[in-house]
Amino acid sequence: MELKVVKASVEKGEGLGWGKSLLVPSIQEILKNDSQSVPERYIQEPKDRPLISQNLFDSLQVPVIDFSMLAQKDANEIRKLDLACKEWGFFQIINHGVREEIMVNMKAAMAAFFELPFQEKSKCAKGANEIQGYGQNFVVSEKQKLDWCDMMFLKTFPHETRNFKFWPLTLPGFKEAVEEYSTEIRKVSNKIDANLSVLMGMDKNGLKRKLGEFQQGIRMNYYPTCSRPDLVLGISPHSDGSLFTLLLQDDEINGLQIKHKEVWIDAKPIPNSLVVNIGDAIEILSNGMYKSIEHRAISNEKKPRMSIATFVMPGDEVQIGPLDSMVNEKHLPRSYRNIKYIDYIRQKFAMKMQGKAHTPIVKL
Ligand code: OGA
Ligand code: NI
Repeated sequence: MELKVVKASVEKGEGLGWGKSLLVPSIQEILKNDSQSVPERYIQEPKDRPLISQNLFDSLQVPVIDFSMLAQKDANEIRKLDLACKEWGFFQIINHGVREEIMVNMKAAMAAFFELPFQEKSKCAKGANEIQGYGQNFVVSEKQKLDWCDMMFLKTFPHETRNFKFWPLTLPGFKEAVEEYSTEIRKVSNKIDANLSVLMGMDKNGLKRKLGEFQQGIRMNYYPTCSRPDLVLGISPHSDGSLFTLLLQDDEINGLQIKHKEVWIDAKPIPNSLVVNIGDAIEILSNGMYKSIEHRAISNEKKPRMSIATFVMPGDEVQIGPLDSMVNEKHLPRSYRNIKYIDYIRQKFAMKMQGKAHTPIVKL
């Protein structure tokens, strides 16, 4: 069988920005020829395979934060947020203010893109030296196991980082849906950033003052069905390199799992909510008080699953390191060194997704 490799012409590349990744086949396309196929390159080593039937920890739930209570500065909700960040690194937010219609439109736009013929999607394909566009990232070796997922990554803020050569501009409504969604998510992320600033001992503008304008990037994950979900991973265990990430997941289909106290817990979908997780940059800035937590996605036999991850990040040239308010020579010695954000991200993209393999690079 001929494998269709997602590739773009070399001229599309603009030198090394955030990193590079080997070009790989589209799993969605492979399955169009044979829906039962599970190519060897996707079969995980036995130790890495998910235990699909494991429901032992069904009662454990990712904390739910009512965003409208945070807006009212409700002390109890703020305490819940602090605990969720410390003990879970993950929480789901409800009443976040993003209108349902905007989320529905975003999901529909993403679905319409992945339903396009391969030739059409390929017009947005990433190059080997690109991280934006349609394809896959974090593939650094021909021997590496591949994730059961195709993705589309677009930078959305600041405005000038938008590179429309990777956007399917002829797809009706796509650009509008992404623009509206990214704008609304930015409002939510500004409120999260203000709350985290206060929890980390600053005023509500503390993080913005230290880091300047944030960047935003949107990763759309398409997980096709799999005849053997016990052998593959939708997305390998990793922590996010962002400050924090807001994930819009399918309203019904389980897929996201979080490593909590050494066991994998399902982040069961709550319709219209957003899953928020702490990324490596907040771990470093908070001097380890809030940790970026390993997570992964599993696939299923019944229905394709889609998710939309919005990464909120410092600017490329910004130095990140433990905040003054989080360091105390006696009780809280500095445990991470300073690093320019782009240097951190380049190290991240140069490795495969591999659990918490990245923050140790900047640990003292
Ligand atoms: C990600 C991610 C999880 C999911 O894109 O970084 O962790 O459920 N996605 O799709
Ligand atoms: Ni992630």
